[in-house]
Amino acid sequence: MELFHWDSSCGVGDSLIDEHHRTLVGMLNEVYDVAIAERDSRALEEIMARLLAYTEYHFNAEEKLFAESGASHRIIEVHQRAHDRLRTRLKEYLSLPDKNDPAVVIDFLGFTVNWFQVHIQGMDREHATMIREINRGSADPAM
Ligand SMILES: [Fe+2]
Repeated sequence: MELFHWDSSCGVGDSLIDEHHRTLVGMLNEVYDVAIAERDSRALEEIMARLLAYTEYHFNAEEKLFAESGASHRIIEVHQRAHDRLRTRLKEYLSLPDKNDPAVVIDFLGFTVNWFQVHIQGMDREHATMIREINRGSADPAM
């Protein structure tokens, strides 16, 4: 069962970011499948570790892309702060003694899927559009 359905409305118009997001959506759905099937906690722990590592990899890649785009420091900081809110939530999750309990994982997924849906279709799309406009020379990097 799909927790997060990817369709063209999730695209932000940048092939690398879109590919990362599709991978993340696939991983979130995979974690959900393992959690609802209540397979052994070791399987859950392994896939959660992969999801958390890939999320950090993706955030770093996006932040690097924005930093290299010529966008203003204010824009880059706003985006980093948004990522930091999910990083904080990930750290809180990792500190839970029962973090491999399927119910705890499903609760964490509910928050995380919602966070990604709002973030991808809001800030990611807006900032990816801005980078394209900067590259075309039709946007002021300081906007
Ligand atoms: Fe982002």
